Amino acid sequence: MSLALIPGSFDPITVGHLDIVKRALALYDEVVVAVMINDQKNYDYTLEQRVDMAELAVKGLDRVCVVGSDGLLIDLFDELQADVIVKGIRNEEDRAYEEKMAAWNLEHNPRAKTIFLQAADDFEQIHSTKVRDMIHAGEQPDAFLAPAVAEYIRTLHCSNA
Ligand code: PNS
Repeated sequence: MSLALIPGSFDPITVGHLDIVKRALALYDEVVVAVMINDQKNYDYTLEQRVDMAELAVKGLDRVCVVGSDGLLIDLFDELQADVIVKGIRNEEDRAYEEKMAAWNLEHNPRAKTIFLQAADDFEQIHSTKVRDMIHAGEQPDAFLAPAVAEYIRTLHCSNA
């Protein structure tokens, strides 16, 4: 039984992330989407909201679950007895960033190896930052989100208005 951990901020989870989840499912028996906190980032959505959105996005996919954690990825990796970390990369900037993270994780937990999946062309331009920028500008980012996530964000912003 192989278990892949897909960690990230998911602020919010996009269809690009979802594609990586589906492709990881073709390679591993189980996939856990780990919604985490990167101390270097400011988030638009709370950990709880990011977990809610990730759960909505993967609903209906067998062999996938979502966890939220405010701890270290390397500790979660051991807790879940994961076999591998999977990260999607779109460009050289992503690669440089993710390789640094992967090296740090591996240095602190020699079992915690990361494999990279290159984003498919259709998803190369999709970024959570872009989604947040669109929302700030009052635009609809629906094309970049699972329908249930787009609806969740709409409801959230209506109730905050
Ligand atoms: O892509 P992201 O948003 O940076 O992903 C977040 C996370 C935590 C998975 C990534 O930053 C990472 O792998 N960090 C390694 C160190 C760690 O576990 N940090 C958590 C507390 S700062």
